[in-house]
Amino acid sequence: MRRVQVDEQIVGKFSAKTIYNRTGRTPLLRRGTRIRPSMVAALQRRGIQAIWVTDELFPDLEVQAVVRDETVNVTRRCLEDIFKSAKEKAPPSQAQALRLAAALRSLVDDILHNDDVVANVAHLRTWDNYTFEHSVQVAILSVLVGKHLLMTEDQLVRLGTGAILHDVGKVTVPQEILQKPAALTADEFEIIKQHPRLGWDLVHEGFQNIMPTSSIVVLQHHERLDGSGYPSHLKGDEIYVFSRVVAAADVFDAIRAERNYRARYAPRRVLQIMQEEAGPKLDASAVQAILAHVAIIPVGEIVRLTNGLLGAVTGLNQGHPLQPVVTVVADDRDEPIERDELDLRGTPLHVDQILNDWPPGLVNRVQEFTGIRSGR
Ligand SMILES: [Fe+2]
Repeated sequence: MRRVQVDEQIVGKFSAKTIYNRTGRTPLLRRGTRIRPSMVAALQRRGIQAIWVTDELFPDLEVQAVVRDETVNVTRRCLEDIFKSAKEKAPPSQAQALRLAAALRSLVDDILHNDDVVANVAHLRTWDNYTFEHSVQVAILSVLVGKHLLMTEDQLVRLGTGAILHDVGKVTVPQEILQKPAALTADEFEIIKQHPRLGWDLVHEGFQNIMPTSSIVVLQHHERLDGSGYPSHLKGDEIYVFSRVVAAADVFDAIRAERNYRARYAPRRVLQIMQEEAGPKLDASAVQAILAHVAIIPVGEIVRLTNGLLGAVTGLNQGHPLQPVVTVVADDRDEPIERDELDLRGTPLHVDQILNDWPPGLVNRVQEFTGIRSGR
């Protein structure tokens, strides 16, 4: 299964997980349901931007989530409340802050209990509500990093709370600027650059008593070790450790995501950017923890290899982020071939590209081919 953006492209696919409504009790879409056009509209109306679907060619491929769905849903609801208030420029109440911290405690608990050496954190495929979804991802990534940097449970909760709130100041930035499908003008960038300070002004008081170190992250997450960041051009140790972790997670998630103003980066480019930024700009140990313990190309993704073969990622290799285990199903001209599980580690091959879906018609051709091969 893999995570896909909710749009017309998912019509005909099968839901791989049950989706619940806001209360978490009524199912909106049950696992195994074939998706009809009316369901796409219903999901979109309820603000559900991405769902898990079963892969037609790999129906049995399960993805082990780092954080349980219930935990993610509760956390999302708490954050949604805070974002809603923030839009009205109202700081979160003490009660909202405490609820969010409690949700983060469950999230930390899930991550501490997960023993995957390399974690699958799904790629973000959402355009309309990018800031919100990105915030949840950055919280998960930051806690994973903190875990591998051997932070205590309490530290992880404070780190995760800061991470999930890091972009809260963006809710006051006009949508036209946030979603502009082109490069920003200098003036527009100046407006974006205000979001750490705006966010800090908003949450600082509410979180002052319960977890002051979380709100520092909101203010500092765009500071860079060499002083080239904003808003205060802090350097090195002047930047609090939580902020340094969140900065690395923020960059990783942003460059990995597909955005409405640019195509998805090739995985090799993602790795290269992270390696270049580690040291001069981003905390090297945080980057190292991400590259060692978070999959750049998670299990379930459809990938094209450097020799043109097409398949799905079916296993991960720690320390070889571009060389997972890939089960190939088609050649470089998208013609079906005998299914083969390739462990790319130790070979000259790596993943060249991640695709959003199988090329048109390929699913049928592969199914026919497999049927013929097995004598059906
Ligand atoms: Fe930000």
